[in-house]
Amino acid sequence: MAKGDNQAKRQNGVFYTPRELAVHLIGPLATNPLPETIMDPACGGGSLLSAAKEVFCRSNPEYSPEFFGCDLSPDRGSLRQLPAKHIWKGDFLELRLSQRFDLVLMNPPFVRHHGIPPEAKEAYNARVRRVCALPKVADLWAYFLVKSVEAVNTGGTLAAILPWSFLQADYARELRAWLADRFAAIDVTAISSQQFEDAEERIALIWLRNKGRSAQTITVRNVTHPSEDLPQRHLSWPEWVRSRVIISNMGSIDDILLSFLDKGFVQFREVAEIRIGTVTGADSFFIAPRRFAIELGLSEGNYHPIVKTLKGLSGFQLNGHCPDCVLMYLPGQPQSAAVLQYIEQGQSKGLHLRAHCIRRSLWYMLPRVTSPDAFFPYRSSHTPYLVLNTPRNLCTNSVHAINWRKLDRWQIEWVQVSLLSAPGQLSLEANAKIYGQGVLKIEPNALASALVTSGMKKPLPEGSYEKINGLLETNNRDAASEVATDVIRSYFGIDPQTMEMCKSMLRELRQRRLASEVMKGVTSEH
Ligand SMILES: C[S@@+](CC[C@H](N)C(=O)[O-])C[C@H]1O[C@@H](n2cnc3c(N)ncnc32)[C@H](O)[C@@H]1O
Repeated sequence: MAKGDNQAKRQNGVFYTPRELAVHLIGPLATNPLPETIMDPACGGGSLLSAAKEVFCRSNPEYSPEFFGCDLSPDRGSLRQLPAKHIWKGDFLELRLSQRFDLVLMNPPFVRHHGIPPEAKEAYNARVRRVCALPKVADLWAYFLVKSVEAVNTGGTLAAILPWSFLQADYARELRAWLADRFAAIDVTAISSQQFEDAEERIALIWLRNKGRSAQTITVRNVTHPSEDLPQRHLSWPEWVRSRVIISNMGSIDDILLSFLDKGFVQFREVAEIRIGTVTGADSFFIAPRRFAIELGLSEGNYHPIVKTLKGLSGFQLNGHCPDCVLMYLPGQPQSAAVLQYIEQGQSKGLHLRAHCIRRSLWYMLPRVTSPDAFFPYRSSHTPYLVLNTPRNLCTNSVHAINWRKLDRWQIEWVQVSLLSAPGQLSLEANAKIYGQGVLKIEPNALASALVTSGMKKPLPEGSYEKINGLLETNNRDAASEVATDVIRSYFGIDPQTMEMCKSMLRELRQRRLASEVMKGVTSEH
């Protein structure tokens, strides 16, 4: 396929459902009474409609429902079984629905919100607002979902293939609550392996049954492959509407985490303040190698070392590490020709018009920022941990800036060790989001609700901090986390079963996150 074709395919989210996956979506719906009208709002080549015919005819060979499909560019060749008047060519979100259907099947286009042209987004928003308002950051699938719910008959069913953002995007939380008000039964199967050849996006199969009543049951199942026969877990309402829907096949993650709160753990927000690192508006202009700042004639007070990433660093302390890059504080009234020329160069590139720059009285004059006490990675694929900022460097916004809330040295060490231990890591794993290639994206809120302890104002058992640090310095994160877990368990008298359960859940969640074959080239900030 030509490169341009591939690009157009991605722009319109054209990824046809493989037959096997379509059968997994439709199989559970082969119960009587079978639907009389079936519609796919983004039918493409009709994979879902053909699979519905195949699966339903197996249970009733006489079965002959009416099929309908809509698509921007329907593949008529494959849709031969449909009467032409049942295929609508055009934008589903602009389509005036003249009827409703017993079953709506869909694998909508997974187009990200910034890929939707602004005028189209405004029009879509205006159309769905009456039913369910969506924020600007909602991806295209969310609009399809809202409109498709409208297209389902009372008592009818909607079955969909959706991206994982359905389970973890901030805006999806309200959407999930909205669905639970409208369907009596909700079942989700989250699949952790890649299902579409050219798309890394992980997917979930969603079944919404019996429209017109609020949810009596909500279940979630996690599998690596759709054919795996793992048990479902029933979710409570709070679990369904939390920022990320996450379950363990071993039991309730919330119950395990709560048991640590009972033992004296607290949320990270109680011991530290999390700030976003320095936002310059134009990093390539304001951040440069130290030697560049010197060549520009800036005095030492006008530049400050800045950490752009924690990648490649190891150990609990930044100590001897001196980042090569500095943040440059350009003077308001530059005296030197070199600085003036540099500012002009920036202006000629239009940097002065960038969002953050335009708000400053002098676009190139950065406000002074204070250096944080510690750093924590924003993105990580493997056992993220806190690094003390002993040399008082700054950080960019790809690293969290942490300031302690009046902790003494012992307490800080306890916080570092406990966040590295199994309960700390499980709480991070449960709250953070998962993005491409299984990388954890730890947003400030996820870190703020991670579980830690500041100990009991007593130092850690002698030598344990040094031992854990030594393991981190040699990049042995698993072993460091294991020692940290043991320290926490014996010091707080946590029963071995609870700790084992915590470790097993952590292993399960990590394995699931890293399950995809696309993990081969995993990248991480830390
Ligand atoms: C992920 S594919 C799924 C196709 C088919 N349902 C399947 O499962 O194989 C999404 C389809 O949505 C279509 N599409 C994209 N934007 C659309 C829109 N605004 N209205 C209708 N169809 C659209 C694309 O042409 C593509 O065929």
